[in-house]
Amino acid sequence: MCKNFLGTRLSWNRLLGTAGVGVGLLVFPAVGAETNAAGANAVPGLAATPPMGWNSWNTFGPDVSATVVCGVADKIVDLGLKNLGYQYVVIDDHWEGGRDAAGHLLANPKKFPEGIKPLADYIHAKGLKLGIYSDAGDQTCGGEVGSFGHEEEDAAAFASWGVDYVKYDYCNAPDDFMTAIERYTKMGKALKATGRPMVFSICEWGPRSPWLWGRNVGGNLWRVSFDVGDMWDTPHNTHSCIGILAAIDASCNHEALAGPGGWNDPDMLVVGMGNKGNIKGGGCTVAEYQTQMSMWCMLAAPLMIGCDIRNADEETRRILTNAEAIAVDQDTLGRQGNRVARTGSADVWCRTLADGNLAVALLNRGDQPQKISADWKDLGLKAGATQAVRDLWAHKGLGNHADKLTLTVEPHATMLLRLSPVSEQVKN
Ligand code: GLA
Repeated sequence: MCKNFLGTRLSWNRLLGTAGVGVGLLVFPAVGAETNAAGANAVPGLAATPPMGWNSWNTFGPDVSATVVCGVADKIVDLGLKNLGYQYVVIDDHWEGGRDAAGHLLANPKKFPEGIKPLADYIHAKGLKLGIYSDAGDQTCGGEVGSFGHEEEDAAAFASWGVDYVKYDYCNAPDDFMTAIERYTKMGKALKATGRPMVFSICEWGPRSPWLWGRNVGGNLWRVSFDVGDMWDTPHNTHSCIGILAAIDASCNHEALAGPGGWNDPDMLVVGMGNKGNIKGGGCTVAEYQTQMSMWCMLAAPLMIGCDIRNADEETRRILTNAEAIAVDQDTLGRQGNRVARTGSADVWCRTLADGNLAVALLNRGDQPQKISADWKDLGLKAGATQAVRDLWAHKGLGNHADKLTLTVEPHATMLLRLSPVSEQVKN
């Protein structure tokens, strides 16, 4: 099992117990480790592995429409993305069209002339699932109508339209974490009360430590960072946009609280954005986009594509469709990887997989090529334990190694590897 950079790996139960008690004292007096592990309001079986799909925000922002969403859904099937596990097509902010006199939430008639239900039917007919967006304030981040004070009726509307996933933002809401927990609890309960399984995506960006209470309020994923822009790095995880590296770092130290049913979410993939669309940032190189995909897989992060896949180039398709990388992300053990060593600008990350193999990432944060070594002791392996090493981007074996592995990694690139034990017989 991978070792923790900070020392002994934090115990899952101990941390969940602590979180249960810490948050429980304030909000959930009866919650302990057992209910926390299952999620007090969680719907069993939902998000057993990190959700995968596409979200409209990065590319389309306010220009989202039924036409766009249908076109993307078609392409998810045509490009083979559906068969790789990308299934949620999420309409982000700016689909809303206010409320009618009775308070019912409406879709914008210009962008969604037939409403959401026929769109959900179209998406379902393709074997995909539909996601939608709202906010725990009375207005969304984009100034559209929010769900505060209308939680039950909005949840019921989503269910009646056939929605399968709800991203719930936190703009125009009070800063304190008690109110955030209350508001997310309210919507979590309202969604559950509909009887329709809907993935609940908490989007308060991390300031109120949602990894501690996300499961308890019925959340299946919770943002740990501000919005990732189309850029490599920013100094801090402060208000948007941040770079890929800052989002990776924001995911550190919460790994013990992620697992089947509840995931740390470092935001969407900017892979393939090419500095186009709604979010900007200057754009990233292919190596940087590939690093994002590699590290999101190491982090057991939701894989929500943000680029316009209707026009994705070959490199973008290659990165997003790497089945060996996706298998790491979707590993059924659901244990998030962690950083096990850092030397200067060289990171070594390790993730234990269900079959006992290890996923290992050598991340070069620096601007020059450098040799990065994964030492077996940092990976929790015995010295001399022979491991077959496979390069998950080159799709080839890199031979057997017994104590450590040293590879040259290009600037801003990541070697994504799978290590499997070699039996005595094969070794000889
Ligand atoms: C916030 C979220 C984004 C997006 C926008 C929509 O900034 O973090 O992911 O949903 O709101 O307005």
